Amino acid sequence: MLRNTETSWGAISRAFHWVTGVLILGLFAYGLWMTKFPAREDTAYHVAIHASIGISVLALMIARVFWRAVNPTPMPPKGAARWEITASKIGHLGLYVLVFGTLIAGWLLAGSGRAPLDYSLFGIIPMPNMLGTGSPYHKFLEESHELLGYAMIALVAIHIAAAVWHERVRRDGVMDRMTSGRSRDPSATA
Ligand code: HEM
Ligand code: HEM
Repeated sequence: MLRNTETSWGAISRAFHWVTGVLILGLFAYGLWMTKFPAREDTAYHVAIHASIGISVLALMIARVFWRAVNPTPMPPKGAARWEITASKIGHLGLYVLVFGTLIAGWLLAGSGRAPLDYSLFGIIPMPNMLGTGSPYHKFLEESHELLGYAMIALVAIHIAAAVWHERVRRDGVMDRMTSGRSRDPSATA
């Protein structure tokens, strides 16, 4: 089933979740790795690759939000308490806000420092330098990009813990509907 149903995530939503999830975790690790080594000849190359992957993730995230808007959202599992439903809504909204915040801060940041950053989407589509070299906002954006990234990773850790809790403690099928897409609700079609 490509589309979402009332009780499970369809194949397209699941693909968006896992592809963007893996790329975002990879971008975080790559970002840390490339900034923590002392400046060397290929630093700008790695920053440009990080930025290219980041812009691709931004495009995927926009498509993901669009797909979410034109599909049903699966209902909370049976027996979920009101506070659990609210917590999961706030948590998921928080993830979207922090992911987009990190992406947009990164985009504004790219090339705004002292050295020009010549990056194009995997060498194909040239990307505009949003603020221009030597922007007074560079430091602020650098800090924001880093802080938003850390906040997002902290929320992802809680998100993964919650998913494991659903799987191991509640055994309510929430993990299944994002992995195999199977639903434990007998009325489900997915
Ligand atoms: C091992 C890693 C992960 C696991 C096990 C996991 C698990 C899940 C599960 C089971 C759901 C479905 C919740 C439901 O049906 O109510 C979900 C939704 C979601 N996940 Fe993850 N996830 C992981 C990583 C990530 C990462 C890295 C991100 C983003 C940075 C992310 C962002 C989201 C968002 C935004 C939703 C809500 C989907 C929506 O309402 O549109 N997840 N995740
Ligand atoms: C969710 C996606 C992203 C994550 C998790 C992420 C994560 C990171 C992290 C952890 C750093 C190291 C921060 C530091 O210690 O200073 C970094 C640096 C950087 N990121 Fe990202 N990033 C993402 C998306 C982007 C995008 C879309 C762009 C640009 C188009 C970008 C451009 C940069 C640049 C230019 C730096 C170097 C900053 C410096 O010179 O210190 N990032 N990123």
